[in-house]
Amino acid sequence: MASQDTASQQAPNAPMEQRLAAVERVLEVRAHDKGLSVDGTMEWVEEKLMAENGAKVVARAWTDPAFRARLLADGKAAIAEFGIGLPAIQRQVYVLENTPSVHNVIVCTLCSCTATTLIGPPPNWYEDLEYRARVVREARTVLQEMGCPVAPETEVRVWDTTADTRFMVLPMQPPETIGWPEDKLAAIVTRDSLIGVARPSAEGG
Ligand SMILES: [Fe+2]
Repeated sequence: MASQDTASQQAPNAPMEQRLAAVERVLEVRAHDKGLSVDGTMEWVEEKLMAENGAKVVARAWTDPAFRARLLADGKAAIAEFGIGLPAIQRQVYVLENTPSVHNVIVCTLCSCTATTLIGPPPNWYEDLEYRARVVREARTVLQEMGCPVAPETEVRVWDTTADTRFMVLPMQPPETIGWPEDKLAAIVTRDSLIGVARPSAEGG
């Protein structure tokens, strides 16, 4: 915990109005640079920020061990192989591998950030205060309630997103899908499985 002296040395935050105005200016400049109207911006969001991107990355990781190793070592560099980038504020994305002994789940306790270019905009339940508060205290119970029970012998790791560090879960491949082509595999990887509250299934998640 920061001492009084340490706290007093930190730069003061600007008032909320100034911070909002700064964000609006950045959005306006970026939209103008891309030649986008509000409608165009929404189309860009729907095209670029979506769980299908994460699903493609997972399918490749399931079928290509060398890519999987690169993805786990440096998520940002590996997803760039798909032409998927990160917004400037997101400096790194860490890919968390689920295994029989470890189950990872993501939350943003501060607000509701996700790795947007891989997972898409956060779902409503992810933004809910109850999820954000409870998953860090009683992850197993929350996962059970969401239909994703975790075996007692499996460790649960909860990862709290920050503004510049985002996460994506690499779920386990259902054994019966071994040998499937990438596009068929990608189709069973759901947004919720990229967050860690669901598991892909051969029946389509
Ligand atoms: Fe957040």
